[in-house]
Amino acid sequence: MSWKKLYIIGVGPGDESYITPAARAKVAECDLLLSSQRLTRLFDRPIRKLDLKGDPPAAVQFILENRARLKIGVLVSGDPGLYSFLGVISNYLGQDEFEVVPGISSVQLAFARLKLGWEDACILSLHGRDADGGRDADGLAGAVAQHPTVAVLTDGRWTPREIARDLLGHGIEDREVIICENLSYPEERITVSDVRGALASADSRGLSVVIIRKRKGCPESSQASSTE
Ligand SMILES: C[S@@+](CC[C@H](N)C(=O)[O-])C[C@H]1O[C@@H](n2cnc3c(N)ncnc32)[C@H](O)[C@@H]1O
Repeated sequence: MSWKKLYIIGVGPGDESYITPAARAKVAECDLLLSSQRLTRLFDRPIRKLDLKGDPPAAVQFILENRARLKIGVLVSGDPGLYSFLGVISNYLGQDEFEVVPGISSVQLAFARLKLGWEDACILSLHGRDADGGRDADGLAGAVAQHPTVAVLTDGRWTPREIARDLLGHGIEDREVIICENLSYPEERITVSDVRGALASADSRGLSVVIIRKRKGCPESSQASSTE
């Protein structure tokens, strides 16, 4: 049976001004666009809402059933290479069956807003970790102890405040904590604080990237105990 290639298209952090021309061109070529709720309003054409995160096998099944007829594009936020549906689809399709169109990541935009390089930052995601029933921010304290800069993707369970609580629980206090909320949207907000300040902050359950930085002059090794 013949099939058309699938396109995983990164469309940036949310505002249309961060969609690259290459992503726009690929979107225009596709017969059918699939995405989660948040991105369905980004383009001036219908986008079918699919539960890419909650039910990946059903999403893949839908793609397999329709790709003979339609050139399908799956829109993902930010860059597909960072915690996206790409991780799922590459378990089901061969290398020649799909292509990836890069996008501007929320992490990239966070570091740009802070005017900081991110070549030696450790990036990790707590997004979706509540599904494991875990009470500990798996690996976070270890990563913060080891790396001068850590960028964390959050969610409604692992909010910036819960992240601060986890760090304090592991004895990590002397860090700068920068909460980058709703990047690229009109309600974007950047809050520079420390671990105790983040714990005291109004909890944000929306989109955010939390950057945790060692302060200048802070010793290399920390008293934190690794959870790994
Ligand atoms: C499943 S991950 C996808 C990351 C995406 N591939 C990227 O490169 O940005 C979703 C998480 O990315 C972060 N995120 C995505 N868009 C954001 C935005 N506009 N502002 C702040 N954080 C964002 C949040 O931590 C969110 O929970």
